[in-house]
Amino acid sequence: MLLKRHSDKVDVLKKVPLFSGLSRRHLDHIARAADEVKAEAGTVLTRQGGLGLECILLLEGGARVERDGKVIARLGPDDFFGEMSLIDGMPRSATVIAESPSVLLVIEARSFRTLLDTVPGLERKLLVTLCARLRAADARLASTN
Ligand code: CMP
Repeated sequence: MLLKRHSDKVDVLKKVPLFSGLSRRHLDHIARAADEVKAEAGTVLTRQGGLGLECILLLEGGARVERDGKVIARLGPDDFFGEMSLIDGMPRSATVIAESPSVLLVIEARSFRTLLDTVPGLERKLLVTLCARLRAADARLASTN
């Protein structure tokens, strides 16, 4: 994927569930804040304990989420990660590693916070995903006890 033009980026963004239903103005806003980056399989995208500088949307490819060296989740197209440290200011909770050649949209911390403050409904959508992740983590924990 090569998002040469601003309108290409907007077209891709409006198909991402996290941004579905947003107005053209808000999609423009997000497109301006997001940079396309490619990553080879094996690239460490966030490192557990590290500083959180950006939130990342996975457009193509896949990644695994590891905590203390154990795989705790797998992410695929349209999933995002790296939001937690930007929200609470704490170190990265997990290491995220690309498992296949991936295309990412990277939104740096300041832009991410501005988007949360200005794009209606975005915070709520993010919360819904965080709830789903917590439910999955609780279910896993209960099944191992
Ligand atoms: P952050 O802590 O900033 O950096 C690591 C990211 O991994 C984290 O944000 C989440 O986006 C993601 N992550 C952490 N735990 C899980 C989980 N259980 N399921 C899916 N993604 C997770």
